[in-house]
Parts: sequence; C-alpha cells; structure tokens
Amino acid sequence: MADVVLGIETSCDETSAAVLVAERAGRPPELASLVILSQDIHKVFGGVVPELASRAHLAALPAVVERALVEAGIGWSALDAVAVTQGPGLVGALLVGVVYAKALAYAGDRAVIGVHHMEGHLFAPALEDPELAPPFVALLVSGGHTLLLDVLAWGRYRLLGATRDDAAGEAFDKVATLLGLGYPGGPAIERLAPEGDPARFSLPRPMLDDGFEFSFSGLKTAVLHVVRASDDLSRDRPHIARAFQDAVLDVLVTKLERAVRATGRSTVVLGGGVACSRALTARAAERLTGLARVAVASPRLNADNAAMIARAGWHRLGRGERSDWTLDARADLPFPGLEPAAMPRGVPHP
Ligand code: KG4
Ligand code: ZN
Repeated sequence: MADVVLGIETSCDETSAAVLVAERAGRPPELASLVILSQDIHKVFGGVVPELASRAHLAALPAVVERALVEAGIGWSALDAVAVTQGPGLVGALLVGVVYAKALAYAGDRAVIGVHHMEGHLFAPALEDPELAPPFVALLVSGGHTLLLDVLAWGRYRLLGATRDDAAGEAFDKVATLLGLGYPGGPAIERLAPEGDPARFSLPRPMLDDGFEFSFSGLKTAVLHVVRASDDLSRDRPHIARAFQDAVLDVLVTKLERAVRATGRSTVVLGGGVACSRALTARAAERLTGLARVAVASPRLNADNAAMIARAGWHRLGRGERSDWTLDARADLPFPGLEPAAMPRGVPHP
C-alpha cells in the first residue's frame, strides 16, 4: 500500500497543509499537493502578532487541510500518517496544528509524528532533488534561527555554529523596519539592494574571522546609526539596503566556505526563508565554485510550508518513529539528532 502522509505547519504566520505520496515502498515520496495560506493581517502591525496568528490558524486550518486533500485527489481514508510542526515557534500557533493533527490521527487510527521546524527546512531541497543525500554542510537561515550544520546522515547532525543573538532573517526584518520598508523585510531589501551603490556605506561584518558562530545584532545597531545620521533617507535607502545585504551575505558565505573546508564536504544545502534570496544562492555558488555544489529548494519550499514538514516526518516514520498522545507544542524545541562527536579542527565545542 502506498504511504500517504499529511503535513501540517502552523508555527508562525503561514497556515499550510501538504500531501506526500510514496507510490512504491522504498521510493522517494512525491509531493501530491501543497496549500499555503499567508496571514496578511500582520502587515498592518509591522510584525507577527502571536494571538492573531493563533486565531487565524484556528479559522483556516480545517479548510486548508481539506483543500490539500482535494488537490491531491485523495480521501481521508487513504491517509496513513500525520506529520506536524511541534516547534520551535509561537506556542499558541503551534498548538493549533498539534491539537488538530492529534485529533485527526486519533479519529482515524493513524500515526502522528512531531517534526522540528528547522529539520523541515533541512529536508526541503530533497522534495525536488530526490538524489540529495548526506553527508553535506547545511546553512539554515530563517526568521528565528541561523544554524550551520554538518549533516552526517538524515537525522544525525553535528552543530558547527549558531547565532549568539539575532537570526539572519530577524536582522533583515529589523533593518527593513528601520528603513521604513515594512514586513517581511528580506524580500523588500533584496528588491532595493541592486539600486544601491555598494561603496557608499561600509558596515561591519561581525565575527567574520571567528569560527562558525554568528552575531547580527551589532550590525543592526550600525545600520541604526547610519539611518540616524542620514539627512535624506529616501536618497540613502537603497545604498544602506545594499551595504547591509552585502555585509550579511558576506558573513554567511564566509562561514559556509569555512565549514566546507573544515569538513571536506562537496555538497552544501541552503534552507529557510532567507534562502529565498537569489543574492545569497548566487553568492554561495560563486564562492564555492570548485569546492562544493549548492542545493537549494525553490522559494515556495524554502519559505514556511507543510511539504517540508511532511518530508521530514516521512523520513522519521520510515524509521519506525512515532509520537504518542502526549505530543505537545514546544516553543523552544531543541534541534533533534545532534551528536556531541568531535568537531572538525578549529571548531569550538558548543
Ligand atoms: O523560514 P521562514 O519563512 O520563517 C521562519 O521560520 O522564521 O523565514 C522568514 C524569514 C524572514 O525573516 C524574511 O525576512 C526572510 O526569511 N526572507 C529573506 C528573503 N525572503 C525571506 N531574507 C533575505 N532575502 C530574501 N529574499
Ligand atoms: Zn521557517
């Protein structure tokens, strides 16, 4: 019988459901449908309002799931398992997905599996590139996390570095707010940056020469000083956007190259919302020419979506993993499968 897995994602401001179907045992699953409903309400507030996000998920999730089933052309009875984002994220928003998934699993005697949101991002490129296989280095960059991983196998990871303060996407969002560009900030900055002169402002590249850890909060403060000192922000805005984007991407790509050299991996995976940035993928590919190939999912699968959650869940279900009825939303869920194994040369232990 075909494996049919429903994925559910409600960790932030996207309500999403997806259906994965494995036609034959042992074959990679195919994405049969993906529905993503982005909550527009937060734009008015310049950022995600947690209580509004929970309510919007509650109102939309049943219809989003039904739509995903209709688009996949399958009925409820064909569903074998439900994979749901357990964390990290907004706890009220996560709870809507987790409670719904458990009810669906309980009512139909199906398996349920809780998935770590960032492990979902890690699996996203595998949806379009079934041959993608570890070992590889992964850079996962989203609104809440910046993770540099050595992926030994699916489910077995070595943490090389993470951010000490703001996540990369968070820095994009905060700088966009300083520039009056609205939320979410990353796409707005990427659109504006090509109009900017890269030499007009020079911004710091935090911890550039230092291992695999990241720090973006000082860079954000540096932008604040430049914005305050500007006597004409409409003239300077594209130049600041350019200088900021160049600084962040330079740091990300430099650490990525360092990780590739330290581990000797020949493949790199970029994931998370910031990996929607064409500027990031272009710069990574350029810097890693002759060293590693860069695997990245298309933007629809890099931004928050349930297909990646279904894909990560499908992998864990295939290894016999299940969650039980005590499955609960966790805002601070730790990344799974981290090995304390020896770090490559020059890498400090976390
Ligand atoms: O993974 P994601 O969709 O949600 C979280 O898990 O947080 O990531 C959202 C983040 C936001 O901070 C957004 O500004 C950033 O990804 N982002 C970008 C771009 N598109 C989205 N950052 C830089 N350049 C982009 N083109
Ligand atoms: Zn995400």
